[in-house]
Formats: sequence, structure tokens, C-alpha cells
Amino acid sequence: MADKIVVKNLFVYYGKFQALKEINLTFTDRKITALIGPSGCGKSTLLRTLNRMNDLIKGVKVEGEVYLDGENIYLNNTNLVELRKKVGMVFQRPNPFPLTVFDNLVYGLRVRGTNNNRLLKEIVEKSLNNVWLWDELKDKLKKPALSLSLEQQQRLCLARLLAVEPEVILMDEPCSALDPIATGKIEELMFELKKEYTVVIVTHNMQQAARVSDFSGFLLLGDLIEFGETGKIFTAPKDERTQDYITGRFG
Ligand SMILES: Nc1ncnc2c1ncn2[C@@H]1O[C@H](COP(=O)(O)OP(=O)(O)O)[C@@H](O)[C@H]1O
Ligand SMILES: [Mg+2]
Repeated sequence: MADKIVVKNLFVYYGKFQALKEINLTFTDRKITALIGPSGCGKSTLLRTLNRMNDLIKGVKVEGEVYLDGENIYLNNTNLVELRKKVGMVFQRPNPFPLTVFDNLVYGLRVRGTNNNRLLKEIVEKSLNNVWLWDELKDKLKKPALSLSLEQQQRLCLARLLAVEPEVILMDEPCSALDPIATGKIEELMFELKKEYTVVIVTHNMQQAARVSDFSGFLLLGDLIEFGETGKIFTAPKDERTQDYITGRFG
């Protein structure tokens, strides 16, 4: 098991407010790591430090180090476009562009200068296949992405991400807008994805974390209280606060 991302002594502040305190943890390659904890505890903030999306928020200060394949992404000379291509993200609510299905999928490639139509078509088919949408959408490539069901939109957003060949996939509560059947499909997809990618998912659905993840980290008010194999965290947590949270005593 290889380390993909190593977080060292990470602190994040929004103005004077300390959102993350001395976080240390490792995300393993080709595994799913879940970040769990009540609302407002810093899960999304931690996720966003992994591809420097926090940089886009005014007044944020990040201290510490985040190593991607051994390189600290917080060095000044980091190429943020390349970083966010390697470490891609899907959000709570699917956010397709107001374009056709096809144009959504090739957006990133066109931005990078790929205009060969045959190649674009190939990539569209491949990325839709990756998320099991090809059969559903092959005759709807010219339809507006926003006319799809929410669950299809979420899978389309994943496909759009896969089209630019990331290495790490960050998912911030990717199922919170979906019904249980749609959630099941996305979870099944995660098992496929981890064969090739490092996956980090934020969820406050405990059952989901237990079902899909290999490792879990429990955050509480900006502290990483406990981190380890999901099986252990959910059956024999070391910290009483983890125990209380996973058994539903608070949060
Ligand atoms: N852009 C922001 N500006 C100021 N405070 C923020 C911002 N984003 C998050 N916070 C605060 O940081 C803390 C952690 O937020 P967040 O990472 O979104 O938590 P979670 O994802 O666990 O719900 C919360 O107290 C939240 O209010
Ligand atoms: Mg959040």
C-alpha cells in the first residue's frame, strides 16, 4: 500500500477562526478514505486543502504541508492547474455546465487545446462507460446536461473529471442530493474507481462510510480525533468521542 497524500501539521484559519488544528494523516493509493464528523467540523476544509481549493476563498491561511507523491503542494511554485487536474473534485450538488452532455465531457480537454473530434468522441464514450452512463446517454449527447436526473448529473460530473485523467478523486458529500437507489449506484461506482484512483469522500452518513471506505478519519471541531482502518474505527474506536459519534449520541 503506497502513500498517495501525506498531510503534516496542517492548520487552516478563516481570518482569526481556526478551522483545522494540527492535522496529520495519510491517504493511501487505490483506497477509499472517508472523512466523517458533524457539520462544521472541518471536513470540507480538509478536503479542499488537498488540491488547494481553499486558495480561492478570501482570508484563508494554511500552515503546514501536504505532500502529493512526496512533493509539497504548498510550495510557491506549484502549478495549480496541474494540481487540480491530478486531484479532481466532485461536489455535494452536481454542477454540470449549462452545456450539452458532450460539451460538458470535453470541456477540460478543449481548454487544454484538444480539438480533434474523433479523439473527443472516443474520450466521451470512454468516460461515460467508466461511470456506466454510455448506454443511458449515447443517444442524448446533444441534450443539455441540466435536463438529466440529479443522479445522472452527478455521474456525468464524475465522468467529466475522469476525462482529464486525475489521480486522486475528492468527493464532498456526493450523495447528499440523491435518493437511496441513486446513492447505491454511486457507491458501487466508488468500488470501481478505487481500482485506479485514490478516493477521498466526505460524508456524514455513517452507514455510507462504513460500507464504502477502507480508512476513516473522525473530525470534531477542527481536530482529527481518530484515524484508522474503517473496520476498527466502527467496531472498536479508541476514543470515547468517536464511539459516541458513531453510535449516534451526538451530531
Ligand atoms: N469560507 C469560509 N469563511 C469562514 N468560515 C468558514 C468558511 N468555510 C467554512 N468555514 C467555517 O469553518 C468551519 C469548518 O467548516 P467546513 O469545513 O465547511 O465543515 P464541514 O464540512 O465539516 O461541515 C465551520 O465552522 C465553518 O463555519
Ligand atoms: Mg462540508
